[in-house]
Amino acid sequence: MGVLTKKVKGAEDILPADSYKWQFVEDVMKKEAESFGFKEIRTPVFEHTVLFNRSVGETTDVVQKEMYTFDTKGGESITLRPEGTAGAARAYLEHALYNNGLPVKAYYLLTCYRYEKAQAGRQREFHQFGMETYGAADAKADAEMICAASSIFNRLGIDNINLEINSIGCKTCRKDYTSALKSYFESHKSDLCPTCLSRLDRNPMRILDCKNESCKKIAKDAPTVLEYICGDCSAHFEKVKTFLDAADVEYTVNPTIVRGLDYYTRTVFEFVTDCIGAQSTVCGGGRYDGLIEELGGQPTPSLGFAMGIERLLMVLDAQKIEIPKPPTCDLYIASLGEDAEVRAFGLIKELREASLIAEGDIVGRGLRAQMKYADKIGAKFSMVIGDDDISENKAKVKNMANGDQFEVPLDEEFLNAFLEKYLENYQKNISMSLQ
Ligand code: HAM
Repeated sequence: MGVLTKKVKGAEDILPADSYKWQFVEDVMKKEAESFGFKEIRTPVFEHTVLFNRSVGETTDVVQKEMYTFDTKGGESITLRPEGTAGAARAYLEHALYNNGLPVKAYYLLTCYRYEKAQAGRQREFHQFGMETYGAADAKADAEMICAASSIFNRLGIDNINLEINSIGCKTCRKDYTSALKSYFESHKSDLCPTCLSRLDRNPMRILDCKNESCKKIAKDAPTVLEYICGDCSAHFEKVKTFLDAADVEYTVNPTIVRGLDYYTRTVFEFVTDCIGAQSTVCGGGRYDGLIEELGGQPTPSLGFAMGIERLLMVLDAQKIEIPKPPTCDLYIASLGEDAEVRAFGLIKELREASLIAEGDIVGRGLRAQMKYADKIGAKFSMVIGDDDISENKAKVKNMANGDQFEVPLDEEFLNAFLEKYLENYQKNISMSLQ
């Protein structure tokens, strides 16, 4: 196969036979977010590169190694979004959303781009669902955000997913921690990768999430942030835990979680599972109280999370959670002869106007092939119209599941007659499945 029929490495197609799974989980996510009072935000797939440098952070893996950055013909540096928080924050400021009253709550479903080593659960184009709140400093907001993610997992029937939380403190208490980390990593300098060597002075915390094996080994014994956070941050963290307890959301405190992006302050969290292999973090998020100011706005305590939809679907698959199958064709109308074709075309339109799924031949097949196709697409009912049926003004509808037949008129009574029988059969099916 040539390059014209091959997708780019790290990108995946979502095919018609699978898209219902995506639609189902996306629908659950949207409904859940809306029940928490969030509204959807859609931002462009690309932004000015400097937005990600400033928000995600110059010393992160994402900015240093993974961004799809290019110069436009006009000479601007543009980057395909590696995540959704930066673009949403930019839009919040650009459109002065704070004028509508705080907190502002937004959710999104989007594609992200990171030039990472592709493997199961790690792609170069992937999908995120995320929620962001602007203008909420209270620990209740942290707990509510975590509850929202947790209830999405619950609604999908997922278990065995563990919530891990931590606090990485504020700008002030981070200073002590950073110097402790710096002296620890200084003593292991010879085993650090070149990127981490350059991080030593500028941002030693980033060494903690380096993917290099040797750096990972050293990072395991590094001092943890919880020992260094200030009284206010510690009190905030305690309150978050109290609210999570009140909501019956289970968690473990994992002092090694620091997240791979620079904007975080105070609460950070991840939902982790052991059922999908190495890429085990399905959802990550936290507070980012300094980001809006960093982008030129007023100080605005904010927070959010994003979950990877590919990883979420892997969890559903691993836990054998059934996703409801999409509805199939309600009535396939096969036709034989020119007059019949024309009549079928009109009846199909009527069915569709009544919000039923209706199909008929559009490729000029013979009767037998039409029926084969009806079977293949899983049509619930089929009907054959020939010239005789038109002259008698009636035709037979067949229930494809059990072969039962009933007659319908082909005039203006057609739709009502079909619907009556359709509902009868449908109710019969429902009561049978309830027995
Ligand atoms: P993140 O941890 O970089 O956070 O990504 C969030 C989730 O996206 C991950 O937990 C994972 O499920 C998924 N993900 C990340 N990279 C890949 C990849 N290469 N392939 C497949 N899935 C991936 C953020 O992006 C933050 N913006 C989250 C956030 C929102 N924090 C506050 N608000």
